[in-house]
Amino acid sequence: MMSSIQVSLCLLIAVGCYQALVQAQLFERGNCPEVKAIPDFNLSEYVGKWYENRKTISNFQNRMAQRCVNVQFNETDGKIVVKNSGIQRFTRRNIVLSGNARHPDATKGEFVVNFLGNASYADEKFLILGTDYKSYSVLWSCVNVGPAQLYNLWVHTRDPNPSSETIEMALDVVKRNALDETKLRMTNRRNC
Ligand SMILES: *[C@@H]1O[C@H](CO)[C@@H](O)[C@H](O)[C@H]1NC(C)=O
Ligand SMILES: *[C@@H]1O[C@H](CO)[C@@H](O)[C@H](O)[C@H]1NC(C)=O
Ligand SMILES: *[C@@H]1O[C@H](CO)[C@@H](O)[C@H](O)[C@H]1NC(C)=O
Repeated sequence: MMSSIQVSLCLLIAVGCYQALVQAQLFERGNCPEVKAIPDFNLSEYVGKWYENRKTISNFQNRMAQRCVNVQFNETDGKIVVKNSGIQRFTRRNIVLSGNARHPDATKGEFVVNFLGNASYADEKFLILGTDYKSYSVLWSCVNVGPAQLYNLWVHTRDPNPSSETIEMALDVVKRNALDETKLRMTNRRNC
C-alpha cells in the first residue's frame, strides 16, 4: 500500500497519482535520478520479442497488474513499432497496446514512444540502461511531477524463464545505476 508520504503527495498532485495507478508506475518524493542510457546501442540487434520479467511496482498495484507481459520491438525502414501485450488479471482478456517509437540519437539507447498517437502529451521516454541483446535488457522511465517523480524500472528477458545468471547480469546494471532493486516485483508468468 502507499505510504503516508505518497498519500499526501497524491492529494497535492492528483494527476501524478492517477497516472501512477493507471500506468502502474511508482510515485515517490524527490526528482528523477541522473541515469544514462547506454551510449553504444545497436537497434538492429535489439529488435524482436522481449518478455517482461520484473518491474518496479507497489504490492497494491501488483495485485491488479497484467500477467504475461511481452514487448515486441520492430523496425522497418526506420519506423519503429513497439507492441506491448499482456493478460488482464480479472477479465483474462488480452490487452494489446501499440506505439510508434522514435530513436532520436542513432547510437544511444534512448527511445521516445507514443502509445496514443498524440505527440502533444503522450510521449514517454525510455532509457536502456544495459543489455547484451541476447538475454537481458534493463529499461528505465521517469518524469518529474512537481516535487515528486513517477518512474518505472523493468527487466526484460529473451527467455520467458531466464537463468539466474541472466537475472544477475540485469540486477548488476540496476546496482551500477544506484537504483533500488528491492522495488522490483516479478511479473506473473503462470499459464501464459
Ligand atoms: C549492429 O548489429 C548488426 C547486426 O548484428 C550489425 O550488422 C551492424 O554492423 C551493427 N552496427 C553497428 C554500428 O555496430
Ligand atoms: C514484428 O515482426 C514480427 C516478425 O517479423 C511479426 O510477426 C510481427 O507481426 C511484427 N509486429 C509488429 C507490431 O509489427
Ligand atoms: C492531440 O491532443 C491535442 C491536445 O489535447 C488535441 O488538440 C489534438 O486534436 C490531438 N490529436 C490527435 C491526433 O488526437
